Amino acid sequence: MASTAPSDSDIQTTSRGFCCTLCHVNLPNLPSVDQHVKGRKHRTLSTVRSTRKSHEERSVFVSGIKPEVSQTDLTEYFQQFGAVTDVIVDKDRGLYAIVQFGESESIQAALSCAEHRLKGLRLRVKPREKKEFKLIPKKKNDPQNLQRIFDRLKPELCQLPSVDSQMKFIVERLQLGENEKKARGLVVQLLQEVFVEFFPDSQILLFGSSVNTFGFHACDLDLFLDLENTKTFQAKAKTSTEQAGEGMSDDGRSEDSILSDIDLSTASPAEVLELVATILRRCVPSVHKVHVVSSARLPVVKFHHRELNLQGDITLNNRLGVRNTRFLQLLSGAEERLRPLVFAIRYWARQKHLAGNPSGAGPLLNNYALTLLMVFFLQNSQPAVLPTVDQLRDMACEEEECVIEGWNCTFPSQPIAVPPSKNTQDLCSLLAGFFSFYAHFDFASSVISLREGRALPVASFLSQDKDDERMQEEQPSKSDPHRPKLGPLNLLDPFELSHNVAGNLNERSLRNLQKECQEAEKYCRSLRYQRKSTKGKSWGLARLFAPPGDVQQAKPEQLVISIPFSSASLPEVLRTELHSAGDAFRQLWFQKVCSAVEIVLRTVLKCHLDASAAAVLSEDSAVGVEEMETTASSLNDSTQSVESLSESSPQCAAAAGAKRPLSSGSDSSVSPRGKKPRLAGRGKPEFPLWTCVQKHMVWLGRRKVRRELMKDTDCRPEGSCMELESQVSASIAEKEPELKEPLEFKVCPQMVGGAENTRALLKLRPSSDEAGIFQDFFHFLEAFLPKMVETVLEKGAGSA
Ligand code: UTP
Repeated sequence: MASTAPSDSDIQTTSRGFCCTLCHVNLPNLPSVDQHVKGRKHRTLSTVRSTRKSHEERSVFVSGIKPEVSQTDLTEYFQQFGAVTDVIVDKDRGLYAIVQFGESESIQAALSCAEHRLKGLRLRVKPREKKEFKLIPKKKNDPQNLQRIFDRLKPELCQLPSVDSQMKFIVERLQLGENEKKARGLVVQLLQEVFVEFFPDSQILLFGSSVNTFGFHACDLDLFLDLENTKTFQAKAKTSTEQAGEGMSDDGRSEDSILSDIDLSTASPAEVLELVATILRRCVPSVHKVHVVSSARLPVVKFHHRELNLQGDITLNNRLGVRNTRFLQLLSGAEERLRPLVFAIRYWARQKHLAGNPSGAGPLLNNYALTLLMVFFLQNSQPAVLPTVDQLRDMACEEEECVIEGWNCTFPSQPIAVPPSKNTQDLCSLLAGFFSFYAHFDFASSVISLREGRALPVASFLSQDKDDERMQEEQPSKSDPHRPKLGPLNLLDPFELSHNVAGNLNERSLRNLQKECQEAEKYCRSLRYQRKSTKGKSWGLARLFAPPGDVQQAKPEQLVISIPFSSASLPEVLRTELHSAGDAFRQLWFQKVCSAVEIVLRTVLKCHLDASAAAVLSEDSAVGVEEMETTASSLNDSTQSVESLSESSPQCAAAAGAKRPLSSGSDSSVSPRGKKPRLAGRGKPEFPLWTCVQKHMVWLGRRKVRRELMKDTDCRPEGSCMELESQVSASIAEKEPELKEPLEFKVCPQMVGGAENTRALLKLRPSSDEAGIFQDFFHFLEAFLPKMVETVLEKGAGSA
């Protein structure tokens, strides 16, 4: 069945396929258009647009009012023309308003009235201006904006003499300015004055990056509205009102104050937050875009300060947030290398799209988690740069003891109480060490504990999980609140030990984080990182911080899929065969995997495969020789312990100044059929290379097709049946049109690792991707291929 032209009016044809003018995305072909218009983003924006349109059609613009005219006055006045559903007054100057009716007919009635008079004022009533609905990209993460900042920073960084001076420069350039701090202080003061009117004795406290010394210019304003004293106040007022009779409370406040509507001792957090939002909307000048996010772990009221272009968050019950901010301040005061290091990784993570979820929710790291990762690395460097949280607790005196919500949050109040570290490494090598540490960190089996300063085995938390499940069954009301939500990355809060601060991360975000750490590690071993370029080239942090686009220009994309050796999942026959191969078992297993990959690509995914080619992998897959030369032994020591992709690549190893032998011992890379890679005449190693051509987007809509093919029988999980998956591909190829420009890509298999961690790596690279779909295909393969290879091996079909 051939797809027809898209019916959605937002979809326009372009020279490279299609483009959605509502969401500003390019779409290569009709199936992706189809998926996009059914997707959440497109549907949400369409709904927002139609709601806005309907509001516009039912409302009028009223000017000529004065600040003394209230919302109620306007509602009462305009009700003569029809039911009024909302009135929005310009609260900064109080000079105009938008009046929204329940029915569009009411507008005509209001507009046809010759004169509008209210409280002695002559109002002007006009139809609402019809504005075209536009998706405005969020400024903070606007890639163009980030690129502009980076473009300005780069030449200055390149002029500096060392990486250490570059790091200090980054702090100076990106930190919150003094005027900015003062302006924030004024906003906090204003908020305090307003809130105290409604919540007597309440306190508004700053926490997070505005005050933890790691704040970037224009960072969010995190606020905690402490209502404990208000609760006491309210309880007292209640008692005295009861004693004195109805009417006035003991301080003479009128009982119709907004506070009398809500009893803080019984109100739900959602109710209190709604009230906070109302106060912000109505009473704080320059504050707009106020909304409550009650689904967050800590529900929050978000707002934007127009003049300062500042995003603010107000939470309740966040004493722990204030305390962990104090903790970060302490560490920053005790160890001066921490601040430049945190600035560097925050900036790096922002450039690589690893951290910062624009609306607070999302699968990326938050900056707090990123900072804790740096602290943990510094606790683990040799000798340690920072003490563990337990050690800090022991350094505190009795008066500094602090317990919040049952969690021990004790640490010294002054940095002077923390003895200086014996570690003398400079910033340049510590930063490189950070990347190396996480490039090889075993996230899957660890729970990071800053309290103990070590990785705890995830298994101990898993057994707790089981205990909990049992407890839940036996006593459903008593689940253990001290259990973190486990995920791909487990990073315990230093104080609230039941909270995984990276619990929002998904597999893909972790994979990206580790991949970027590996890339950075590789780069940090090069002279390009460590020494100022004499030829005026980008070096040091300037190159480390280059946004993905810049890096791709310098180096065509190469993506890797890893297939681990797991004896448990192999069939008995194959295990016996491998066992009898003795030392050669790795090569034998690798051959089987290669045959299985070939079957999956050719038979299951219907790729045209040229398996005979053996080619020299071009230079652009490796970094230049200059980059790979390693001089600093301190870096080498910390980077060679675990297998990495770079180590597995003989080009890199050769170029890196022979840190590791090219092809000897169990760690060497081998080609399929057991051939050891050899250096070709021009000094470059030779690899077998498959050239594949894919004519159909067989990765799109597989689940649906699988379901249709299975009909009434139980739907089998993806990748668990070779025949079924082949049928799915065949069915897609039959129904969907061929790609105008087939996708051509190369696959280069290699084996890496020692006996314990043997794995096959498939390096993929597009050679022709006119439609820009290779990324999608790769993400599909990343999950599909390892599962499918396992299935093929189980069937014994991989036997060469
Ligand atoms: P952020 O992740 O926003 O960090 O958390 P940040 O340092 O303020 O960085 P920006 O705002 O992105 O520039 C804000 C604060 O919230 C608390 C911490 O106190 C953190 O400093 N927080 C955050 C937690 O207590 N737990 C969390 O899981 C996340």
